[in-house]
Amino acid sequence: MEKEIHDQPHAVADTLLGRTDEAGRLVLDEVRIPEERLRAVERITVVACGTASYAGMVAKYAIEHWTRIPVEVALAHEFRYCDPIVDENTLVVSISQSGETMDTLMAVKHATDLGAMTLSVCNTHGSTIPRESDAVLYTHAGPEIAVASTKAFLAQITACYVLGLYLAQLRGETYADDAKAVMRELQEIPAKIEDLLGRMDRVQEMAEFMADTRTVLFLGRNVGYPVAMEGALKLKELAYIHAEGFAAGELKHGPIALIEAGQPVFVIVPSPDTPHELHKKVVSNIQEIRARGARTLVIAHDGDDDVEPFASEVIRIPACAPLLAPLLAVVPLQVFALHLATAKGLDVDQPRNLAKSVTVE
Ligand code: F6R
Repeated sequence: MEKEIHDQPHAVADTLLGRTDEAGRLVLDEVRIPEERLRAVERITVVACGTASYAGMVAKYAIEHWTRIPVEVALAHEFRYCDPIVDENTLVVSISQSGETMDTLMAVKHATDLGAMTLSVCNTHGSTIPRESDAVLYTHAGPEIAVASTKAFLAQITACYVLGLYLAQLRGETYADDAKAVMRELQEIPAKIEDLLGRMDRVQEMAEFMADTRTVLFLGRNVGYPVAMEGALKLKELAYIHAEGFAAGELKHGPIALIEAGQPVFVIVPSPDTPHELHKKVVSNIQEIRARGARTLVIAHDGDDDVEPFASEVIRIPACAPLLAPLLAVVPLQVFALHLATAKGLDVDQPRNLAKSVTVE
């Protein structure tokens, strides 16, 4: 798993490779055939499980912002049984590292039966889900051996950005310029992950120091919300401790009752460039929980000084465009779970009760 975490700059770079022409326009050879159908897409439903579904949640924020196409994210195992609203103008995007997850495969088949166009975001060539789909966008994370998903998650998010930008370009010139600009920012992310991986000593120390912790909370907003969910899942899977991720705005609607002295809470702070005062609101969430004694473990961008007064620890990530931040913000959470589990003497590559691909429903 440690190797895979360190493979992440390549996973992102390789997933971006060859996606643009000399003029900076996106070219997706794999999805060119159903281009006409893609132009007619009125809604998108993402189907996936676990970590892949969190990549789908990130995709929702990004694709809706760039294309104005409504995007829904459904857990694949729920999708089939909820009488989904899907027709020939719906694009159903499945996300799966293995391409063999039975729940996701069944959702894709159901979508096909309902007349939808299906596109698979997948890391495994020749696997079943891409074969059952109308189009496939391969992630190029390389084989992921450790059971818990890390580099595949980053590659899935990257592929979803590429898909969103491509759809934006297909839908007209107003969005096409933005797509080029975002693509350029995306190209800078691998070097920023590399930089970030070089700063993880303090995160490792924190994890080792917290080996006896019984419960950890994770808060995030907007694209930081799925990052919070993923941070919690990594800790459950690897370290077998209770962890919960939730949208920071929900705090006052219930979860704040959980806050007591010493409770560790990771907070994923959006970029100060985020619109609608979102950044300020998350900073005030940190202030609220700190006032109640929480140990605030704050993930914030370089240069964001507003968080300092209320943070027990600040974990810095390189500055980047707000929608791209999950590719950086999740890395310290992966590293934290890895080292906490290791400090407990657990096998991080083969956690108990889990299998790399879940081929039963
Ligand atoms: C989490 C994890 C699982 C998978 C999920 C989907 O670390 O590995 O939650 O993400 O089982 O698997 P794929 O992507 O193979 O469909």
